Amino acid sequence: MSNIKAAITAVGAFAPEYRLTNAILETMVDTNDEWIISRTGIKERRILKDADKGTSYLAIQAAKDLIKSSNLDPSTIDLVLVATITPDMPVASTSAFVASEIGAVNAFSYDLMAACSGFLFGMSTATSYIESGRYKKVLLIGADKMSSIINYEDRATCIIFGDGAGAVLFESNSEDYGFEDEILLSDGIGRNFLKIDAGGSLLPSSHETVDNKQHYVFQDGKNVFKYAVSKMADVTEQIVKRNNLTNEDIDWLVPHQANKRIIDATARRVDLPEEKVMINIHKYGNTTSATLPLLLKEYETQLKKGDRLVFAAFGGGFTWGSILLTWAYDKQT
Ligand code: UT7
Repeated sequence: MSNIKAAITAVGAFAPEYRLTNAILETMVDTNDEWIISRTGIKERRILKDADKGTSYLAIQAAKDLIKSSNLDPSTIDLVLVATITPDMPVASTSAFVASEIGAVNAFSYDLMAACSGFLFGMSTATSYIESGRYKKVLLIGADKMSSIINYEDRATCIIFGDGAGAVLFESNSEDYGFEDEILLSDGIGRNFLKIDAGGSLLPSSHETVDNKQHYVFQDGKNVFKYAVSKMADVTEQIVKRNNLTNEDIDWLVPHQANKRIIDATARRVDLPEEKVMINIHKYGNTTSATLPLLLKEYETQLKKGDRLVFAAFGGGFTWGSILLTWAYDKQT
């Protein structure tokens, strides 16, 4: 291990204005507010309504929020990473466009795809670049326009997902705060249960795939739930134990927001009370790569230098993991 520590030094976020509430969904599919809240914890999600705007728009707004709130000169950014499963286009890198639009003119950039674990895995990538000493400022953005791949006639998925973006800046830290440890895992069995069948190299899009609605997300919720609820809790418990920590040493759980019941099960496994668990699923639903940075933005003013955060995520693939990190700054309000 190098002795350079990589810490989060700034946060930004963006959620589009339009609120798709449970009441509105009741008019679209056979569902109801009581079912959605009790099964998922979601009350509303944000949707990017503008047909001419893609994920890059969300990412750019989140990055601009970070740049403004931290007075960052974007020309000093070395690398822009965009974690997303909904790139603007399948070939042109979304991150390249985002970097240019925010004035990161000296940065290189690439997209990173690990579904709902995209931001978590991106944290591993970003911190590794800093720890190696090769780069000084890495901007990691998690952004997804999930509404672009959701079938609003499928009640199994349309009640869950929303659009959003969040961004964090990683820099070296001289006070020994920042990234501590990670457990990252994957299992290809997941593609039976959570996927988009068409539009990739295995099944290129055609009239037939569109007619069959194979360009939309398919989720076997029950099976995904079964894996998610045990795997996310397992890695959270493992990272706490292997760092010889107890529940009292953890200040915050930062869990992927897929289902309130999965979040509660993870918190229970490491015996953390509700007030130490970041939550905003009721407002945004599952924004895939954006859930973790949206949480950080929302809780930023409550975080104190030295706080111990355990991040945990589970997503398509399957991909999952946890990261232990100490917070590096007190936000002036
Ligand atoms: O972030 C990526 C990873 N994704 C996840 O972690 C998501 C994991 N899965 C889940 O969160 C849950 O499985 C869901 C929220 C998707 C579904 O909850 P569930 O408790 O697993 O419900 P279910 O699929 O077992 O369905 C229970 C019942 C069924 O009716 P019957 O067969 O018991 O009569 C469904 O037909 O609820 C019915 N149902 C609904 N009813 C109202 C399914 N979807 C809906 C709906 N509204 N939207």
